[in-house]
Amino acid sequence: SSEEMEERIKQIKKRLGNDLFIPGHHYQKDEVIQFADATGDSLQLAQISAKQAATNIVFCGVHFMAETADILTEENQQVLLPDMRAGCSMADMADDVQTKEAWETLQGIFGDTILPLTYVNSTAAIKAFVGKHDGATVTSSNARKMVRWALTQKERLLFLPDQHLGRNTAYDLGIPLDEMAVWDPINRKLEFRGEVGRIRVILWKGHCSVHENFTIKNIENVRKNHPNMNIIVHPECKHEVVQLSDLAGSTKYIIETIEMAEAGTEWAIGTEMNLVNRIIQQHPDKKIISLNPYMCPCLTMNRIDLPHLLWSLEQIEKENSQNQIKVDKQIAKEAKKALNRMLILS
Ligand code: 13P
Ligand code: SF4
Repeated sequence: SSEEMEERIKQIKKRLGNDLFIPGHHYQKDEVIQFADATGDSLQLAQISAKQAATNIVFCGVHFMAETADILTEENQQVLLPDMRAGCSMADMADDVQTKEAWETLQGIFGDTILPLTYVNSTAAIKAFVGKHDGATVTSSNARKMVRWALTQKERLLFLPDQHLGRNTAYDLGIPLDEMAVWDPINRKLEFRGEVGRIRVILWKGHCSVHENFTIKNIENVRKNHPNMNIIVHPECKHEVVQLSDLAGSTKYIIETIEMAEAGTEWAIGTEMNLVNRIIQQHPDKKIISLNPYMCPCLTMNRIDLPHLLWSLEQIEKENSQNQIKVDKQIAKEAKKALNRMLILS
């Protein structure tokens, strides 16, 4: 039963003490979050992991986050992912070969005027590519700062793999849409409207399948049925949706905004379901709903559950390094450059 599993997890946590650290992303299920030693968004979890001394880090989040934790920790520490199927469909939208191909074509068009940036929601190989080409990683909570920085380094930037975060951030910084282009990695084509010479931001054609589920229709319905409601969304949502919302920001920004809001205020939130449900529970004094009434779960985040967490902890006690996330040394070295450029600026 759940109670038995919870009890066993508690016992193992007690026995392992400081040898164990469990970071938990805000999108994880409550049954998992209750055992997290730290919760946070992807930037916070990267920063916290970098400071950990525990020999075993059991990452409750998705694959790219566990890779980041492995890159930022020491050789004697191991990072485990309770379920190897906990990937991220957005991270999978940019691979190594496609990125090299895009880079060559873009260098052909623009010469050596491009700095690559990648959202941390990407594989270690993409982070390594970016690190090698003087670029940096970004997260949703520092994207503005990093895009601004990139444009002090080079005339233009390539933003991987989330077109929406890239577009929303650049637009926020005053870059008009006709100075942005989209690289389509499947058809190997650059899509743009204005003059090619004016392009300053090249967006990779990737997206988050969870946040793409929030639509203009959802916003119209909230405006009609709840005229006093504030709409707050994550910048992984489409540009039109962000534009029609009242506020947009990272997971951390959404949590803090609702915390600071006055009792009695009304909110429609456009982000992952587990987080929205948790915020609803934590704020009975406010009226809060999901912007999309059907709720939007991240299926891969949800693969980490009580049985998988328990199994992973049991493997540590049996000294089995099952589900260890170990990034290749050379890739880790280059990826770390990209991560460190971000961590220094954050
Ligand atoms: P943040 O944690 O940076 O807000 O990212 C959201 C997300 O989609 C994580 O996978
Ligand atoms: Fe990936 Fe989106 Fe899930 Fe985050 S919410 S892990 S970006 S699919």
